[in-house]
Order: sequence, then structure tokens, then C-alpha cells
Amino acid sequence: MEKVISMNAGDGDSSYAQNSILQKNILLRARLWLEESIRSWKTIFDCETLCIADLGCSSGPNTLFITQIITSEIRNKYAHKGIRVPEFQIFYNDLPSSDFNTLFKLLLAAPPAERSYSVAGVPGSFHTRLFPSRSLHFVHSSNCLNWLSQVPPEIEDKNSKWWNKGRIHISEQGPEGVGDAYFAQYQKDFNGFLRARAKEVVEGGRMFLVLPSRLSADRRQPSHLAFLWETLGFAIKDLVFQGIIEEERLDSFNLPLYSVSEDELRCEIYREGSFTIVGLEVMIGGLGSSTNKLDDNEKGKFMCAQARAVLESLISYHFGERVVEAIFNRYAEILTANIIQVEEYMNQSPITALTLERNVSISTMPTKISCC
Ligand SMILES: C[S@@+](CC[C@H](N)C(=O)[O-])C[C@H]1O[C@@H](n2cnc3c(N)ncnc32)[C@H](O)[C@@H]1O
Repeated sequence: MEKVISMNAGDGDSSYAQNSILQKNILLRARLWLEESIRSWKTIFDCETLCIADLGCSSGPNTLFITQIITSEIRNKYAHKGIRVPEFQIFYNDLPSSDFNTLFKLLLAAPPAERSYSVAGVPGSFHTRLFPSRSLHFVHSSNCLNWLSQVPPEIEDKNSKWWNKGRIHISEQGPEGVGDAYFAQYQKDFNGFLRARAKEVVEGGRMFLVLPSRLSADRRQPSHLAFLWETLGFAIKDLVFQGIIEEERLDSFNLPLYSVSEDELRCEIYREGSFTIVGLEVMIGGLGSSTNKLDDNEKGKFMCAQARAVLESLISYHFGERVVEAIFNRYAEILTANIIQVEEYMNQSPITALTLERNVSISTMPTKISCC
């Protein structure tokens, strides 16, 4: 799955760079918490170079926006304390299929005054080790930790009672174990992420993570965001009815995405034990609205373009390039027809902003608990 996930490349009309406005809204909402996470950070590192990683950076203006906030906030903090400001080394991580070239072109196009840092690309999965031991001071990741390394196998297995036939994600009408299967995969992946970062982040180092989340504790309940995935499933189903897509293709496709609840998140962090939760904020309506001035048809097309920039590679790989246009045309129509509901879901969709600090010594680690 991680070989196939790729946001739309380049900076053209269908690119992620041009269609990441929902993610930008999330970053704007989370900005205060990011700044607070740096301001409240007591540790001052006496080092020549401060190493910062942006995990799942993708390629587009959001990445530069985040780097700008982090570096200027850290710079202010050091200057305010009268301490020499260190040099910054920024590591941009994403999967190897990500468009690093567009990212680096964008970076070099920024005015030199806004580029007071060195950069390097680090391709690989953030569910595994990426950096040398104790080499990172600050880690940022936004809109990424809802991506799974794979779809839980049992929901695509015809012989399993949790086979998610005819659907592409968690749905109230689907088999009840689908949500649990997604959660089990999430636990494995997030634990891999935490264990890898536990080795890489220096003691006292911080991570700021922003991720779409879920309010309900009930895993059978789809998240607000999942309404978008359910409607995509309806579009694909329509093409099955029209004989354009084989039913088997739909039955063997599910999205590798999971929105975690606050309790699930806390529990996984305590269980792994290397990080302390310094701050956890759930922001409702983090996706915001960027479509106020548009008519319903334009709103539907806008939402479709945002989703397409993220999902086209997966859809194209599984269903074939020849049906991609038909799927997204139908998807835009369904979104338009349900635009009031779509907007309602987007306006209520929760986003979690999380600040974690790498524990200093074993004695300060939280006691292991088992609660999930
Ligand atoms: C929606 S984009 C978010 C990009 C950017 N952080 C932002 O907020 O605009 C999600 C990114 O996560 C990346 N991603 C997903 N799974 C990953 C993994 N296991 N390792 C590294 N990157 C991953 C995707 O390739 C994609 O670029």
C-alpha cells in the first residue's frame, strides 16, 4: 500500500500543491497550538544545529508554511532568552513515491530571507526508523497519522465475517467488526511510529502532531470525515451498476485511513511509554470552509478536487486509469447533490493537535497500563 499512496504530483490544476486547502485550514487552526508547543518547551539545547523533521510533508505550500512557523518560533524563543540561535536542519520525509522535486523547487523559489535553514529529503515510511538515534530535536507531522500502512486484511477477505463487501470504509451499514479491524491496524502502525521516534528524538525533544480524529468512542460509528469516503463508495457502486466497474473490484477495495478517538490515542501513547502528553486539543470544525462564495455545483467540484488530489493514485492503481475520470465525475455529482450534509460534516469534523515530549529517564515513564 505504501508503494501506491502518493498525493498528486507537480503544481498543475489537479496537484496536491493546488488542492490542499482543507489541510491548510487545519494548519491555520492548529497554528496557535504549534506556537504554544514551542513556547512552553522548557528545554534549551546547547547545540550548533537544531534538527527538525516534517514527517509526511508531501509537496506544496503547506510544507513551507509549517517550516516558517517552527523556525521563527524557535528563533524568537532563543533570542528572547538571549541565547545564540542555532542553525536549523530541516528533514522533509514522505514515502518514496512523493514528489520531492516539486517541494525542493518551491523551497528554492522562496525569498532567501525566508530560507534560513538547510534542507534534506528523507524518503521512507514514518512507521519505521528513518533517522539515526537521538538525532532529532523537534518533529512535526500534520494530516498524516490517519494513513495506515495497509488495509486490515480481514475486511478484504471473502471468507472473513468482517468482509466489507460493497463498501470502501467503516459504515454504519457494514459488518460491525470493520471498525475494530481498522483500529487493530492503527495500533500496529502508530506503535511502530512511536517506537521509531522514541529512538530518534533526543531526551526532552518534542513532537507536534495534527491528525483528523473521531468524537465517538464507538468504532462502528464512522468519523465525520468518513462521510466523504462513504460517498466515494457510492460513486464507485454506481459505476458497478452501470457495468463499467466489476463488482469484485469494488469488493476488494478499502481506504487505508483511520480517524482515531482521543482515548485510543492517549492509550497508545501511554502503552508505548516513551513520550509524555504535554498538550492535547480537539478542535471541532478544523477543516473549516473555503467554499462560501461558490454555488452548490462548484462546491461539489471543489470537494471532489480536494479528495482526488489525495486519493487518485490509489483509485487509479486499483480500478485502472481508464475509469478514474468516470469515478470522480460521478463523485462530484454526488457531493453536489448532498452538499448541505457534506458541509455539515466538514464543519463538525474534529482535528486533534498533540504535543508530546520525549521522556528524560526511565524513572519518569508512565506506568504501563492496558486499557484498549
Ligand atoms: C494529506 S498529506 C499531508 C501533507 C502535509 N503534511 C499537509 O498537511 O499538507 C498526507 C501525506 O502523508 C504521507 N504519508 C502517508 N503515509 C506515510 C508513511 N507511512 N510515511 C511517510 N509519509 C506518509 C502521504 O504520502 C502524504 O504526502
